[in-house]
Amino acid sequence: MYNRGILKTDEVHNMDFKQAVANEIWTALNAAFGDAGIAAGDIAAALEIPPDTALGDYAFPCFRLSKALRKNPMMIADALAGGIRADFLSKVEAVKGYLNFFIDRATYAEKVLGLCLEQGARYGADDSGAGKTVVLDYSSINIAKRFHIGHLSTTMIGNSLYRLHKFFGWNAVGVNHLGDWGTQFGKMIAAYKRWGDHDTVAAGGVDEMVKLYVRFNAEAEQDPALADEGRAWFKKIEDGDPEALEIFNWFKEVTLKDAERVYDLLGVTFDSYAGESFYNDKMQPVIDELKAKGLLIEDKGAQIVDLQEWGMPPALILRSDGATLYITRDLAAAKYRKDTYNFDKSLYVVAYQQDLHFRQLFKVLELMGCDWYRQCEHVSFGMVSFGGESLSTRKGTVVYLDDLLNQAIEKARAIIDEKSPDLANKDEVARQVGIGAVVFFDLYNNRIKDIDFSWERALNFDGETGPYVQYTHARAGSVLRKAGDADASKPDFAALSDPYSQDVVRLIEQFPEVLKAAVNRSEPSMVTRYSVDLAQAFNKFYYENKVMVDDPGTRAARLMLTRAVKQLLKQALYLIGVEAPERM
Ligand code: ARG
Repeated sequence: MYNRGILKTDEVHNMDFKQAVANEIWTALNAAFGDAGIAAGDIAAALEIPPDTALGDYAFPCFRLSKALRKNPMMIADALAGGIRADFLSKVEAVKGYLNFFIDRATYAEKVLGLCLEQGARYGADDSGAGKTVVLDYSSINIAKRFHIGHLSTTMIGNSLYRLHKFFGWNAVGVNHLGDWGTQFGKMIAAYKRWGDHDTVAAGGVDEMVKLYVRFNAEAEQDPALADEGRAWFKKIEDGDPEALEIFNWFKEVTLKDAERVYDLLGVTFDSYAGESFYNDKMQPVIDELKAKGLLIEDKGAQIVDLQEWGMPPALILRSDGATLYITRDLAAAKYRKDTYNFDKSLYVVAYQQDLHFRQLFKVLELMGCDWYRQCEHVSFGMVSFGGESLSTRKGTVVYLDDLLNQAIEKARAIIDEKSPDLANKDEVARQVGIGAVVFFDLYNNRIKDIDFSWERALNFDGETGPYVQYTHARAGSVLRKAGDADASKPDFAALSDPYSQDVVRLIEQFPEVLKAAVNRSEPSMVTRYSVDLAQAFNKFYYENKVMVDDPGTRAARLMLTRAVKQLLKQALYLIGVEAPERM
């Protein structure tokens, strides 16, 4: 191991170069001009990062002081530049009214790498979420439908946000708000009773249920009696008829068993599967409350909340036949979650087609006086299309997730067989790489962007892809394995002064900020992009600099950088839900 003793802990935690620079300016300012009544914090806030590192790492625009000092910026810059001398600065220059600061390259590398490795898996984290709870509603698949790529983004964005929140100390509750309520389930039972049998559905799973449903709709056009049967069965579900519930719950079980295979492959978990039907007995109190608060009005027999004042169509709470709706269940769910988890934040990871639904939901909560509606947020994302067309079974543009994942795994397996025939755990690595490619593809772009799915791109392993980052991680691991004990020497951080090493160090320094922004903006793609940037910077570094050189100090420094990169690639991949095999 490198000698950790060279970095004193108090030094390590004082990585805030920006604040250190501000302090230097403040001290020099007071020495040169006396108390100008300017706080060090204001100076830090005014510091800029020059667009080109040739102009330094930080720049202070001295015109900010002109008014208070009644002097021109050029003169101020000159006066201050002469008075600043600190070990961590290699140079301070006054240029055209700016003070440019150059951080000493070796010190910079030493502090950044030291902090990163010292904090290990906690590097980049803080405890900003300690004592706070976030509820995340994601994936939320529909019963008796096959898991297709339309539900990939909600699943993976949600999973990543779950991990990111936990990383920052939040108590996270993952909810799969199952779509398990609706008249279609009555129809499905009617179809099952007529044409289905237990063994076929048990063996065929969701596909069999879909077949029954399709047949029901086709035959119902000829035979109106069917529609009545469907309605009657739905009524039985609503009334808690034991036979109806048994079949319905079994349908659910079969769907979830299918889905769980996919969740297992993806490494996605939930803390609750309370879906729409869970709220059956929890809606009446909400309806009563809406009534009591005078929010419910009758409209052609239906009960609605009027939202015209806010430019929205009314929220339909009860149909004229007394049936509840999607939003009625979401109102009950929101209240239930607040009561049960007392969340500080409640996120709904749902495609933007439902923008209006969530605006209505939050507005109704506000009107009900639930001031915690502000803690609710719709994390919306773009739609998936296929060849420019919306996904549809009918048009053949639907891609099932298990098909996609299996193809990805097969492709990874073929590449491994060809390139690394001696790898020990080929199947496991093929799974990690195949799945990694798909998940990475899904989380690569800003979430609001629509995704036009293409098999080619989803299964691409070159360029800015998951396998590329995974490969870089494994390569860093192999460098470290080969080095063995060779990095026991004291690192010579001056050996990391070249631009390639410095680019890597700068990215390592930015890691905490990137994660913070990703969690604050609910934007996992920032982490995905970062992992590519870091992998590319490391590969450039590796290409330009030989690691296993004779000089022990240089070698140890380069190995230290390699170790930090490996740690962060693994961490970044974990946070977007991608595994990082040690060898590929
Ligand atoms: N099941 C719904 C769908 O597939 C998504 C549910 C989202 N969550 C919610 N609380 N409304 O479109």
